[in-house]
Amino acid sequence: MEYSREEIDRHIDTVIKGQTSDLRIPPEACLVDGPLESCTIVIFGATGDLTMRKLAPELYSLYLKDALPDSVAIVGAARAEMSHAQFRERIRDAVTGMDLSRWDRFASLLYYQSVRFDSPASFTQLSSTLSELDNERNPLCNRIFYFAIPPSLYEGTAELLGAAGLSQETEERNGWVRLVVEKPFGRDLKTAISLNRTLHKHFKERQIFRIDHYLAKETVQNVLMFRFANAIFEPLWNRMFVDRVTITAAESLGVENRARYYEESGVLRDMFQNHMMQLLSLVAMEPPSRMEADYVRDEKCKVFRSLRLLSPSDATRHVVLGQYLAGTVDGKSVPGYRQEPGVNPDSLTPTFAAVRVFVDNWRWQGVPFYLTSGKRLAKKMTEIVIDFKKAPHSMFRGLLGESIGQNRLTLGIYPDEKIHLSFQTKNPGAKVCLRSVRMDFDYRQDYTGPVLDAYEKAIMDCIQGDHMLFWRQDGVELSWSFLEPILEACEDCFDKGPELQFYAAGTWGPQDEDALT
Ligand code: BG6
Repeated sequence: MEYSREEIDRHIDTVIKGQTSDLRIPPEACLVDGPLESCTIVIFGATGDLTMRKLAPELYSLYLKDALPDSVAIVGAARAEMSHAQFRERIRDAVTGMDLSRWDRFASLLYYQSVRFDSPASFTQLSSTLSELDNERNPLCNRIFYFAIPPSLYEGTAELLGAAGLSQETEERNGWVRLVVEKPFGRDLKTAISLNRTLHKHFKERQIFRIDHYLAKETVQNVLMFRFANAIFEPLWNRMFVDRVTITAAESLGVENRARYYEESGVLRDMFQNHMMQLLSLVAMEPPSRMEADYVRDEKCKVFRSLRLLSPSDATRHVVLGQYLAGTVDGKSVPGYRQEPGVNPDSLTPTFAAVRVFVDNWRWQGVPFYLTSGKRLAKKMTEIVIDFKKAPHSMFRGLLGESIGQNRLTLGIYPDEKIHLSFQTKNPGAKVCLRSVRMDFDYRQDYTGPVLDAYEKAIMDCIQGDHMLFWRQDGVELSWSFLEPILEACEDCFDKGPELQFYAAGTWGPQDEDALT
């Protein structure tokens, strides 16, 4: 049985007033999503890689789950000249392999408009196309503009949308206007501030949805539920009981066909500024007083503000950087990073980083957080591990000469969507000895309902206007402020900063990573 937020609030009020409520919240209580309002989704970069690989399949998958508004139009916008029919053909190719029984109906929601990203006239034309579509399909005149374009076009496109009056939520048009921006949000603090400033010239912060697909992963969302919906873990979640936290996002893939972007960004910008910082904040944050976007995002920002800044000289001790060499992954030989097409043969771009981070606040003082991410590692695996302190006194050690393992809580994000808790028990049998055992919870256990992929969830939340799983401006800027000294120490000046270490593809990264631990 499901209850709406209002019903739950009413129930809480009733309990506070000491009366009996007729509503018993079932253990699986969830908030009900109301019907979705009609809208038009405009995808800039509609012929690009992101649209074809992610957005098209995810939108179609939402459609198949009846999770798009009843009245919706999807407008592809890109430079190429193309008819609606040709665009529909392209999207059809992008969803090959999916259930095509409802394709024809979905195809009828797709439109195409060629745009030039340097032409105000082109955006005036787009504006008239959208007004016509509002009459046909979007009575509430709500619009989402999705930037699936290269970041270098973000500011110019926002300016053109603003100049064409497309960013405004006018009384006359009455609908909402939202802007979805993909990472990277700038390439350092200065450019992030400049991007935010330009976006804010035309859009209010509440109109902007900065996507981080990690936040929309089921198991990442679950970190908050696990921590704050259970009373038994939170009392242990601090420096008194936690020895260290390890957050790993390992990938077996290499740079694929994104060398141009990756050469400019490297692993620190690609994974740390966004995904790793979000995972860190979810583990380290204080409990927000309500499950609402800004309450949660406020707490995350407090974590970012508490991060101990590393000076460039500290970086040598706290950061290990690596780059993959040729090796073997899944039984196949793969080239080294410098041999990948489009990569400079002398490239110093790191494809691996391990960073030791401290959160300087009352809760976490002295507890190291180890963040590790890299490409072409032994396997694809994302997890958060909390190692608890050793038992303060071991009555067994003297007696049995055994070393007793620490309790470990593992929050598996991918591919193991599991939570494990390891602890010690007596080994059955006559001999008195201990063994380490594991209690496992499978995230999907006893659940048979639909599951949303991260991008599906992000698109749905944007249609619903929920910012919970999106970056807020101050978070982005704080995250860059933390990363900047590390980037400064690492980039183009390997004599000052941590030296780039090479690792064979298919291994767990540079040997020296152990020097951090
Ligand atoms: C993206 C990075 O944000 O995340 C990619 O740009 C990386 O380089 C990807 O491969 C990893 O995401 P996931 O969901 O596959 O872990």
